This record gives sequence, C-alpha cells and structure tokens, in this order.
Amino acid sequence: MSHAATPLGVSPDKTVLLVGGTGRTGQRVLCRLLERGVAVRAVVRSAGRLPPGVAGDPRLTVVEADLLALDDESLAAQVRGCEAVVSCLGHTISLRGVFGPPHDLVARATARLCGAIRDSRPAAPVKFILMSSVSVDHPGASGERRTAPERLLLRVLRRLVPPARDNQRAADFLHAAIGTEDPHVRWVVVRPDTLREGEVSAYSLHERPVSSLFRPDDTRMSNVADFMCDLATADGSWNEWAGRLPVIVDRN
Ligand SMILES: NC(=O)c1ccc[n+]([C@@H]2O[C@H](COP(=O)([O-])OP(=O)(O)OC[C@H]3O[C@@H](n4cnc5c(N)ncnc54)[C@H](OP(=O)(O)O)[C@@H]3O)[C@@H](O)[C@H]2O)c1
Repeated sequence: MSHAATPLGVSPDKTVLLVGGTGRTGQRVLCRLLERGVAVRAVVRSAGRLPPGVAGDPRLTVVEADLLALDDESLAAQVRGCEAVVSCLGHTISLRGVFGPPHDLVARATARLCGAIRDSRPAAPVKFILMSSVSVDHPGASGERRTAPERLLLRVLRRLVPPARDNQRAADFLHAAIGTEDPHVRWVVVRPDTLREGEVSAYSLHERPVSSLFRPDDTRMSNVADFMCDLATADGSWNEWAGRLPVIVDRN
C-alpha cells in the first residue's frame, strides 16, 4: 500500500503519551503531534534534549523522569486520560548504549505501559504504537519471507546484540500477552528499515519485509513520525493496521 503524507484535522482534546521523545525519531513525532494540534505528555530523562522550540507550547506537558524507575502508581498517572501511547524508545547507539543495561528497555517499558493502561481500565481501548525495526519478525507469521541466511543472521544478532533481542521481545509480548481483542489496549508495531534524515516524503507500508536484510531499504525518520502520528490521530490508518506490524519504507 502506498501513502503520501497528508495533514489531518484532529480533535484538540486528544492527549498522547510519548516516551522516547528526545530521540531522533521521537523528537520528530513530538513536533508533528504538536503541529497537528494534539496535546502531548512527554516522559523524558532530560528536558534539555527536547527539540528546540517546543518548550513554550501550551499543549506540551513534560515529565522529567526515568521511565523504568517510575513505580506502578506514577506510571498509571501518566497513561491516565491518554488516547494513545507512542514509544520511540531505543538503545543509544554507543558501546554502552547497545551492550550496557537495561538490555530489556523496550520490552520492559512496553509491558509496564500496557499494564498501566490495563490497570487504569479506560472506557475505550488505548492505542499503543511501538517503534520497532524491520529486523523484528511477526511473531505470528513463521519466518515471514526471510531466506535461510537472513534467519541465521537474525538468530546471531538476537543472541549477541541486546537491542535486537529486546525489540523482538517487545513485539512478542504484544502479540502473545495483549493479542488483538484486549478491551483496554490495542497496538501497532511499526517496522522501519535503515533510518535516514530528510523531510517527509512519499512512503509505502507493507504487511511484511519487502527487501533482503542484506540489501536494506531506506526509511526517513520523518516518514516514521508521520505514520506514527497518523496512527495516533487518524481512524483510517489505525483501523487498517491495528494488531499488525507494518513495514515502512521510502518510495523512490
Ligand atoms: N538505527 C536504525 O537504522 C534503526 C532502524 C530501524 C529501527 N530502529 C529502532 O528505532 C527505535 C528508535 O530509534 P532512534 O534512532 O530514533 O532512537 P534514539 O535517537 O537512539 O533515541 C532513543 C530514545 O530512547 C531513550 N532512552 C534510551 N535509553 C533509555 C533508558 N534507559 N530509559 C529511558 N529512556 C531511554 C532516549 O532518551 P535520552 O535522550 O534520555 O537518551 C531517546 O529518547 C529503536 O528502537 C531502534 O532499535 C533503528
């Protein structure tokens, strides 16, 4: 399916909880949500790493905290009243970020945030939108279209590189522990290929990986942000992809 970026009208009373909003993609998600008139509650370790220009925005609430250190009650307070939770968390690209703790950042944050949503017993299901990777397999579709060398590469990566294992575990959790009929949480796992700079452009969405892991496609972070914001705010995108793991790549 192809997609050209379109601005959306959004009800101004929507609130989205964003985690990872100081990251490369998360910053773009934050700016785009605010541009669309959405109220954002951002839990960040350091407000100093938020994108320039958002600080005075009346729609933005910043909570400075270490997400994984929040107790259940504090986490429940963050998700309460939000229609969507967007996670752009990722292990920082450095030796310490990739191989140091917490090895389970994404999976643990996913499980805790979904638990907090469930505990808050929202009247309507809350959307959980997770930024993941094309290297993550659909837990319900054995092997997808991976070749034997690709499957071997992924096995080695998940064994040796904690973030690769972590991203897969987060998707496995959503598939197995939340499923597609949960009354309180619905989810989408967004799978970009190699992240690139650049403005929003045309991009396409696919049910499964379209290119070999050995010949990766490009995905602009702006396009990931655009799609994640669509999922958070537009019923059409959400209804199409809920409970699925769309792969997003730039269209050339
Ligand atoms: N690199 C690629 O080509 C690629 C391709 C596909 C998918 N992905 C996936 O995309 C996701 C996001 O990538 P990105 O490059 O946009 O992320 P990024 O720039 O590395 O940002 C990561 C975010 O996670 C936060 N974070 C890191 N460790 C944390 C911790 N212990 N507790 C709380 N927050 C923490 C960071 O906060 P601070 O600012 O406080 O550090 C930051 O907001 C990752 O899961 C990655 O695996 C990457």
